[in-house]
Amino acid sequence: MNAAEIQGGRTLRADDAGRLAERIAGLIRQGGPLPFDRFMALALYEPGLGYYEREAGTIGREGDFFTSVSVGSCFGEMLAFRFAGWLEELEAGTVWLIEAGAHDGRLMADILAWLDRWRPRLGSRLACGILEPSPGRRAWQQARLEPWRDRIRWFASFGELAHEAPRGILFANELLDALPVRRFEWRAKAGGWQESSVGLAPVGTGDTAGPAFRWEHRPMPSGAGSADRWLRRQLDLARDLAPALPDGFVWEHGAFAIEWWRQAADCMMEGWLLTLDYGELEGGAFLPERPQGTLRAFAGHRQTPDLLNAPGTRDLTADVDFALIRQSGEDAGWTTAAYTTQGRFLTEIAAEMTMSLEAVPRLDAGRRRQLLTLVHPEHLGQRFKVLVQHRPETAHHD
Ligand SMILES: C[S@@+](CC[C@H](N)C(=O)[O-])C[C@H]1O[C@@H](n2cnc3c(N)ncnc32)[C@H](O)[C@@H]1O
Repeated sequence: MNAAEIQGGRTLRADDAGRLAERIAGLIRQGGPLPFDRFMALALYEPGLGYYEREAGTIGREGDFFTSVSVGSCFGEMLAFRFAGWLEELEAGTVWLIEAGAHDGRLMADILAWLDRWRPRLGSRLACGILEPSPGRRAWQQARLEPWRDRIRWFASFGELAHEAPRGILFANELLDALPVRRFEWRAKAGGWQESSVGLAPVGTGDTAGPAFRWEHRPMPSGAGSADRWLRRQLDLARDLAPALPDGFVWEHGAFAIEWWRQAADCMMEGWLLTLDYGELEGGAFLPERPQGTLRAFAGHRQTPDLLNAPGTRDLTADVDFALIRQSGEDAGWTTAAYTTQGRFLTEIAAEMTMSLEAVPRLDAGRRRQLLTLVHPEHLGQRFKVLVQHRPETAHHD
């Protein structure tokens, strides 16, 4: 198929989308239905074909969805102000500023431009890094960050980064919500929880030519048997709550996000971990107002109800369970320094910038508009939450 399919102003080759669907269908024919987290990993990250592997232009006005970064440079500039303060608290020696989930490098560019202009004194002690497992995305970032190319190092894994014994800041915006999740559904009539997998639907039932997919369900694993202690806890809670939940209640378990944060906490020797993302601070997976769970698919700035078909052509995302992420960091010895909404977090920074005795730019009209979008509860201020964890210097030597 050579026809091009238009998605949110971008041109997507339908044969690429078809190839990913065929590849997933082949795996299902071979081994049976795929657990949803495996399906989500393929749909987003299959090299060359997954949604986040194919092209940089998926975020922003011409893409499928906005993030705080695509609102404008104000977000990065405010983070830069906060980061400068944190880094200056650390004693002499090299300090690292490391981003993960950097996509096309825009946020890091906004931050470094601000630091160069307003905190040049950090200069020689500041080392910059990007944690990026995908060679394709690394190339997008290197193009965007050309002016800082000599100052940034790329790391493919926490293992590589750990060689630097980094102290400083590791941050991510909307990374954790893009990591694969498992999905569970309550079947009241059958009296049990089931785990959602993805199987093949009869040919011609999807909204594109080629293989179509549908949900398949199998009994949920028993909590006791799972090696993942976070999942064990969730499964126990699910069992206790089940009688009070409506038929079809859905929840997700973000094992990859929790594991990612734990690795971050183990890798950074001291300093700050920061994540900003969709999700709830309290209540986790079982909030009664979310009976359908939180998994969503986006294409062309529209949420589409179909999570399964045309994999690779739409974003898949699920809310972050902040309480579990927070706990995993605290278990690794980090102290929670901020646990709040994006609106509050950025408003506090804006207030400090306004009152700062140091050289900082005043917010011009354009940036004030951006700030409003970032902090207003009906825009991004309430839906996005912030977790900052801190490990003071020398604490890890104890
Ligand atoms: C929703 S996008 C957010 C991009 C950007 N931070 C922003 O706010 O505009 C999530 C990004 O995280 C990337 N990503 C997924 N898994 C990753 C991992 N293990 N390490 C680094 N980045 C990852 C995705 O490829 C994608 O570029």
